[in-house]
This record gives sequence, structure tokens and C-alpha cells, in this order.
Amino acid sequence: MKCRRCRAKAVIKIERHHSAFCKACFNEHILKQVERAVKKDGMFDRDDPVLVAVSGGKDSLALWDVLLNLGHRATGLHVALGIGGYSDASREKTERFASARGAKLIVHHLRESLGVGVPEIAEKSSRPPCSACGTIKRYSFNQIARQYGFSVLATGHNLDDEAARLLGNVLHWQEEYLDKQFAVLQAARDPVNGRGGLVKKVKPLYRLAEREMAAYAVMNRIDYIVEECPNAKGAKILVYKEALNRLEEEAPGTKQNFYLSILKRWIPRLKPDSGVEENWQSCRQCGQPTSTNAGAGCR
Ligand code: AMP
Ligand code: FES
Repeated sequence: MKCRRCRAKAVIKIERHHSAFCKACFNEHILKQVERAVKKDGMFDRDDPVLVAVSGGKDSLALWDVLLNLGHRATGLHVALGIGGYSDASREKTERFASARGAKLIVHHLRESLGVGVPEIAEKSSRPPCSACGTIKRYSFNQIARQYGFSVLATGHNLDDEAARLLGNVLHWQEEYLDKQFAVLQAARDPVNGRGGLVKKVKPLYRLAEREMAAYAVMNRIDYIVEECPNAKGAKILVYKEALNRLEEEAPGTKQNFYLSILKRWIPRLKPDSGVEENWQSCRQCGQPTSTNAGAGCR
């Protein structure tokens, strides 16, 4: 197997693009794909400071690495969720990466800011831990981005994450979540009082598969947390990912076609104003966005 670009020995095959790459050309391919998404989808400009949400996992650390390699002013944000040893290990990975790259990292400790971690929040709100965790993460990302004056926040969601989430939303016909599937979610002011609001959110890896990001991280010796969150056991999203991987094996490109086609053709027909998050208001106490009249932090 030869590299499509330079004819050297290839180290990775990408079936859906009918291509194979050596390490140097694969790195170039990943950088180009991210740069293309950033530019073509209007995510941010070359000089815009970007806040990158880094969990300690392969996708977000690889994204941070790629953005730094492309010359972007990318600061990391890690939310320490207070899920025992798993959270400590995740935070350490982000801190080590930041010091190795000489990059700025903001660590936000939930136990310091709210006095509790995800397990206690889930218990108090009687919600499954992953659902409470998702809400608190979105809340923290927005709060810290606004506090430090960032106008754009990037996450490491990849093609597999988005396709699996879309499959779940379509199977259960959760129309209200389709808006969040876009690679760019524009900044929005509070629909009622025009104050505060949501910072712009972007997913620069939306065209790249999980397998490609894992390969990038390994090839570039990025030390990431391999362990899954203890609360992820039995999560439906993993079943959807498995099902899509099976389809992808039979017909390479299925995942990408499914996600990109629905994104481009179907959602805009259903929701002509899509690309802006809906159904939210500002919390009466802290001003942060919320779907009820009190934000996740105040509840
Ligand atoms: P997940 O919600 O775990 O699928 O992660 C999706 C994306 O959210 C990751 O790629 C990161 O960009 C971001 N993220 C998840 N957990 C954290 C965290 N604890 N701190 C900062 N960013 C995170
Ligand atoms: Fe949030 Fe697992 S990372 S519950």
C-alpha cells in the first residue's frame, strides 16, 4: 500500500476517500481538513483567539494540537468534573499537554466553583449522570468563554460523534435537538431581554472520523486518556456508533453521507433558521443560558 501523495509506504488507509497516506502526508491531510472546515464554514479567522474545550481524550487534544500547528491562538479549557480518579487523570493529561506545547490552559474545577461534582449534581437533580454532566459542561463552557472574553469555543466532536447522535435523534424523532448538530452554532443574544447569551460554538473535526483522530494522536505521541468515563457504560451512543461502524465496513462513506446529507439538505428544510440554538432564556439569577428559568449552576 502506497501513499496517494508521495508514493512512500502508507501507514493508514482511508476507505471512504479511496486513499492511503504515509505519516507526513496523513498529518498534512488532517491539518488541511481542519483548516478547510475552519475557513469554509466560517468558524473563526486566523487572528481570532479560540477557546478549545479539552477533555483529556484523543479528539480534543488532537484538535488543540492541530490548531496550534496551524498557527491559531488556541487556549485550552478543561472542566474538572469531580468524577473521582477518572477526572484527576483527565485533568493531568490536559495539563501535561499544555506544558509540553507551552500553551495556555484554563482549568475550571466544579468542586471549587459549585462546591459539588457531577455525581452529586446528578443525585440532587435526579438525572442520569451523563445528562447532568452534559448540561453542566455546556453551562461551564459558555460561562468561562464569556468570562475570559472569547467569542468562539471549539469542541472535539468528530464525524462518528455527530453521525451517532444524529442516528439517535432520527430514530427517536427528537426534532428539537437537530439544531445542535450543526458544525457551527452562531452566537445568540437572549431572545427575551437581548442581554448576555451564547458564544459561538464550532466543531472543526466534523469531517474527520474517530479512527483518523486516534491515528493522528498515536502517530504524534499525544498522551491522552484511553479509559472511558465510568458513567459511559451502557450509553446508547456507543450502540449507535457500533451500528454505524458495521454499515461503514460494508459501504465506506455511509457515515459521512448520512451526517452531511441530513445536515445540508434535510435540517434546513425542517428549520429554515437552523444553525442558531433555540429554546433557551437567561437564568434570572446568574444570566447564563438555560432551558428553564434557572440555570444549571443556580438549580
Ligand atoms: P463528550 O461530551 O465527552 O463526547 O466530549 C465532546 C467534546 O466536549 C470533547 O471533544 C471536548 O471538546 C469537550 N469536553 C468533554 N468533556 C470535557 C471536559 N471535562 N472539559 C473540557 N472539555 C470537555
Ligand atoms: Fe460526563 Fe462521564 S464525562 S458523565
